[in-house]
Amino acid sequence: MSQRFQVTPWEVTGVVDYDKLIEDFGTEKITPQLLKEIENITGGLHPLLRRGFFFSHRDLPQVLEAYKKGEGFFLYTGRGPTGHMHIGHLIPFLFVKWLQDKFKVPVIIQITDDEKFLYKEEFTLETTRKYAMENIYDIIACGFNPDLTFIFQDSEYTNYYPLAVKIAKKITLSTVKAVFGFKNETNIGLIFFPAIQAMPCFLLEKQCLIPAAIDQDPYWRIQRDVAPKLGYPKTAAIHSKFLPGLEGPTGKMSASKEQTAIYLTDNPETVKRKIIKYAFTGGQPSVAEQKKKGGNPNICTVFQWLNSLLEMDDKSIKNRESMCLSGQLLCGECKNYLSDKLIEFLSSHQQRRVEAKKHVDSFKYTGVLARELWSKKW
Ligand code: TYM
Repeated sequence: MSQRFQVTPWEVTGVVDYDKLIEDFGTEKITPQLLKEIENITGGLHPLLRRGFFFSHRDLPQVLEAYKKGEGFFLYTGRGPTGHMHIGHLIPFLFVKWLQDKFKVPVIIQITDDEKFLYKEEFTLETTRKYAMENIYDIIACGFNPDLTFIFQDSEYTNYYPLAVKIAKKITLSTVKAVFGFKNETNIGLIFFPAIQAMPCFLLEKQCLIPAAIDQDPYWRIQRDVAPKLGYPKTAAIHSKFLPGLEGPTGKMSASKEQTAIYLTDNPETVKRKIIKYAFTGGQPSVAEQKKKGGNPNICTVFQWLNSLLEMDDKSIKNRESMCLSGQLLCGECKNYLSDKLIEFLSSHQQRRVEAKKHVDSFKYTGVLARELWSKKW
């Protein structure tokens, strides 16, 4: 019997059945054939594609077609600044950076400091703006090309407003109620917000492709409904699964549940403590049983984090998986290995983050794409 689960832009609960989600959301599976087509262009596949972490899409073949015809495309992704980013948030950005390197295309990154102010009663706009800047440092640290990347905060780059009202005019209250479950008590800022998250898809006159976890897909449904009415192409999307939290395979790592997350700003002691104390594994109750029956990497947070973020060498991850399944590997060893890998990963991220602070202006205002978008009128 399949367990109940729920995926919305604000919450993920239960053990997600991703095949069922493809059916429910009406998206398409990324097939081996499609992977081959990407590989033919890029000359290799990112591990997140190869290992099925990005698993679903909308209109990805059209994007490849536009690229092959020389029409080009652009990438759009974003972040809602509720606090420091965690390692799950980093995944779409690392993937977008890889796509930018391979396809040499523009990237637009929206920081929704308005959304999080509207959504969380306790947040002031000053708070979400402060976190917006903190998050921008982490995003720049991923290594984007400053001339091909525009990072903006909704509360600051308001040039888009005429575009947002054109989009909003085509969205009815009953549509957003049906898609997002808004109630009569929902403030009207949130009711307008889907127009703002759809808006960046219209910023450049090219096909848009959005890499993000599948929780954001409801916004793309709205965009795809409105775009033809405004004479623009429907956006394409490529969806990832969720990096699980420390607590195990239900829900997702979430910034609002501190005990589930490793933040990009965590220090080595915190990382070690959280992993040793809280990380859920797929191990057996005793060492003897583990040796006899083996563990279950499918439900193991430690394995999932290595597989999607930290162990990029295919041979090493395969080896770890088979040693776990055969009971040769104990969970304590694996936790120590993960902890060392993560500390190393975060230490180099944090060094790049310090460097990133010097380059904020290029991404927000002075890079080639930033200047183009600040001077554009709608
Ligand atoms: P936010 O800040 O909730 O999430 C930022 C990005 O991280 C993805 N994500 C995850 N990916 C893997 N594992 C997880 N546990 C996990 N948790 C979150 C999200 O899918 C997202 O890609 N409203 C948006 C901000 C936004 C946006 C966008 C996101 C504006 N425009 C365009 C993606 C694409 C938000 O609050 O994201």
